[in-house]
Amino acid sequence: MKDLYVVANWKENKNEDEAQEFLATFKNIYQVRENVAVIICPPYLIVPKVAEFLKNNNLSVKVGVQDISKFEEGAHTGEVSAREASEFSRFAIIGHSERRSQGETNEDVQEKVEMATKVGIEPIVCVVNGNVPIPLGAKTIAYEPIEAIGTGNPDTPENAEKIASLIKSKNSQVQHVLYGGSVTSKNVHKFTQMQNIDGVLVGGASLDPMEFSAIIKQC
Ligand code: PGA
Repeated sequence: MKDLYVVANWKENKNEDEAQEFLATFKNIYQVRENVAVIICPPYLIVPKVAEFLKNNNLSVKVGVQDISKFEEGAHTGEVSAREASEFSRFAIIGHSERRSQGETNEDVQEKVEMATKVGIEPIVCVVNGNVPIPLGAKTIAYEPIEAIGTGNPDTPENAEKIASLIKSKNSQVQHVLYGGSVTSKNVHKFTQMQNIDGVLVGGASLDPMEFSAIIKQC
């Protein structure tokens, strides 16, 4: 059985109370699977609270962040450095298409990957197709075609597999390729059963504890 990642990208959703409500339900229904690493990426403000809850409740779930600064530290208003993020998280989504559409470049993504790896954070680098440059040092990639994000129209598992295998064949450093874009408990297994797809990055469907735990169960 291959190792899988199931990553929740909460985006700009959930305040502390809402996260608490999610976690209180999730902890009662979540079934740990030995080969599945579950990672929740909440909004920055509640990252410490989510991390604390998971630790206090002994839940085998890791915390990630949705972005990090490309700067090491200093006068960069609004930014959070990799070192600061590493206090609570071991993973960072980097280069999501929603950030690239705000002007983030391939060079920014490369710099962020370097910042993350320096402090022991594993970058999960998002790409929208097989032609986006894979940053040096990135071992985990999430293939997320724009037209599949938040639309209810996922890519076909066959095409996602084609892109995943292309990414791996062009970049020998890449160990995991995840698929993202309208993943649900109904379609997740169609993706994870593909030879080169090593997990999923889930947006909308990760906001509901029942649906997210169903995705973990079905993957
Ligand atoms: P979605 O988002 O699951 O809501 O399509 C995925 C993502 O943007 O990471």
